[in-house]
Amino acid sequence: MTSCEVAVCDVAVVGGGVIGLVTAWRAARRGLRVAVVDPRPGGGAARVAAGMLAAVTELHHGEEALLDLNLASAARYPDFAAELAEAAGAGIGYRACGTLAVALDADDRALLRDLHQLQRRCGLDTQWLTGRECRKLEPMLAPGIRGGLRVDGDHQTDPRLLTAALLTACERAGVVFHRCEARELTLSATGERATGVTLDDGTALAAGQTVLAGGSRSADLAGLPPEVAVPVRPVKGQILRLRVLPGPTPFLSRTVRAVVRGGHVYLVPRLSGELVVGATSEERGWDTTVTAGGVYELLRDAHELVPGITELPLVETRAGLRPTTPDNAPLLGPTELPGLHLATGHHRNGVLLAPITGEALAECLVSGELPDYARPFHARRFSRAVREVPA
Ligand code: GLY
Repeated sequence: MTSCEVAVCDVAVVGGGVIGLVTAWRAARRGLRVAVVDPRPGGGAARVAAGMLAAVTELHHGEEALLDLNLASAARYPDFAAELAEAAGAGIGYRACGTLAVALDADDRALLRDLHQLQRRCGLDTQWLTGRECRKLEPMLAPGIRGGLRVDGDHQTDPRLLTAALLTACERAGVVFHRCEARELTLSATGERATGVTLDDGTALAAGQTVLAGGSRSADLAGLPPEVAVPVRPVKGQILRLRVLPGPTPFLSRTVRAVVRGGHVYLVPRLSGELVVGATSEERGWDTTVTAGGVYELLRDAHELVPGITELPLVETRAGLRPTTPDNAPLLGPTELPGLHLATGHHRNGVLLAPITGEALAECLVSGELPDYARPFHARRFSRAVREVPA
């Protein structure tokens, strides 16, 4: 595109990671003219993520409302995967394999028991197993396993296949890609409404509605008025990819995870032979360095869990940034500024929440209303005007 060109659309989505793409695809399927602005669409945190759909095993105290959203999105996955595979002509590696969360010592077992009680209070049906029962399910587990939780509903998908499929589906649905950075939000003459964005290639992209879906960088866009709060910070995760060599029996048949000395480790086996080992959780700003310490801790903890991993080729080490809000839940829908929406802040759940985020944002862009299930996560909940309303 040449400089000073003007482009017009109904919806400009700033950010072409998994959340931006799913929003664009769903909005285009609802008949809106959509443009995505991103120098490298299909990148972002999902390129690094393991793709666990871990609504139940990643439940935390105080996050019961988020659990409902996570479960609702997990329930949508089978249909979402089939619809997207048809639209893109390629699958997303959705695998209904379940998860086994295990404990290696008495402290870990106490934490897992606590998680089990929380799950039961939330009405979730998970099953406590002895160490022997865990090893019967997954014979590669270490002999010292002290017990575990069988979670048959926490599945997985391949985030790289997911983003590739979303890119194709967007293109086929007529989404226009501007492969450059967004420079500045534009406002109406009175400043009362967002009217689109200017781009680094000089394009003025006029849009009836603009969605910020830039992950950890969602607040970076110039021109955001001060009343629009986008409290998203990066939380670093280092992750490894190993390769399981073909054999008569699967190395692992489901996701296996544990808390080892207080740190979380998980192993996600794909049918392709990829075995993802993750992930650190570090507050280090924008740093995405893969460190010797991070890799060491992941391998050490994964080895305690499944000693046989030391035989496998290590094929990739990466670090990504989880876009995290003060309450670990996403920011969805209209902001204080008419015409400007958020779809960001998905923290550990971007891949899991992709189906429901796309659906909720598309509904909001078409009707002006967030669906009921998304309202607890509305994008204005951290703005000063909302926080200062007396109780
Ligand atoms: N949901 C897994 C992670 O964020 O590491």
